[in-house]
Amino acid sequence: MSLIIETKELVKRYGKFSAVNGLSLEVPLGSIYGFVGPNGAGKTTTMRMLTTLTRPTNGKAWIAGHSVTDEPRAVRRAIGYMPDEFGVYDDMRVWEYLDFFAACYDIAESERKRLIEDLLELVDLSHRREDMVDKLSRGMKQRLSLARTLAHDPAVLILDEPASGLDPRARVEIRELLVQLAKMGKTIFFSSHILADVAEICTHIGIVEAGQMVVQGSMDEMRAQLMPHREIMVTVRDNEAAEAVKSLVAEMENVVNVTILEPKAGRSRVRIDFTGDDDGVAAVNQKLHGAAIAILGFSEETKDLESMFMRVTKGIVT
Ligand SMILES: Nc1ncnc2c1ncn2[C@@H]1O[C@H](COP(=O)(O)OP(=O)(O)O)[C@@H](O)[C@H]1O
Ligand SMILES: [Mg+2]
Repeated sequence: MSLIIETKELVKRYGKFSAVNGLSLEVPLGSIYGFVGPNGAGKTTTMRMLTTLTRPTNGKAWIAGHSVTDEPRAVRRAIGYMPDEFGVYDDMRVWEYLDFFAACYDIAESERKRLIEDLLELVDLSHRREDMVDKLSRGMKQRLSLARTLAHDPAVLILDEPASGLDPRARVEIRELLVQLAKMGKTIFFSSHILADVAEICTHIGIVEAGQMVVQGSMDEMRAQLMPHREIMVTVRDNEAAEAVKSLVAEMENVVNVTILEPKAGRSRVRIDFTGDDDGVAAVNQKLHGAAIAILGFSEETKDLESMFMRVTKGIVT
């Protein structure tokens, strides 16, 4: 798997406060990567480091193999960045806005007319060509802003909350546009504070909280976690009993993993990762009782991606 964006232990400190705190990111080439986390998690700060707008305090980051600190010009050529704020160019016509940014990227005047027409068509704004930018709806402004990031045909799009503040219809339009851009071969790295916004179209997802990556991977890996996954916690008297539990259940059906945990309050605990149903849980229970091991506690809980995200976004990471 080739990575087009990679960070290693990225840190951004403001005084004593770490906005980004050892974040390692892996964005595969050609992916639609949803960077998800609550407000204040460090998404914008991470993106500002990736786009060379602010220097990391520590750690490393590469885009298309170029270091953001050592080769900022090469990085800027490889990326299109859409910030979370639209900007202050409201007194322009739609086509002038794109013309201005294309000129900033040194695209020749003779090529710009054709380019602008193509971009306007792509984001479905051709009929608004002569409108003033400040007369556009928020959804149209977002699409225009997206068109602007494409002017120099970058390989990677870094989009900060592209669907934020949009009505449901405009959200769908932006999502469809991102899928279309991915089909054109762009890698799309975009942030959102709403899991449902990204889950539908992403190939990959990373959940960030308090400047750190909580979990990241492909949607297939995440779907595996969305499957009901139970943790059975068995409390026994001592380590000897814990070992006995482990060897008894390890080979049972639907038992994924068995871990002996640190003793708590002088008692040993065994965690059984389990993908079976209620009958399966009962079968584990019966097997333990049948083996005459003194069971002091037997409990289970269900874990999935949504509940994990809810826990994370409430700030009660366990
Ligand atoms: N320039 C700055 N100076 C001080 N603190 C900042 C600065 N920029 C961001 N922060 C803080 O860093 C944290 C992460 O912010 P941000 O990256 O904008 O999060 P997100 O985009 O995930 O909402 C927040 O607590 C924010 O207040
Ligand atoms: Mg932000």
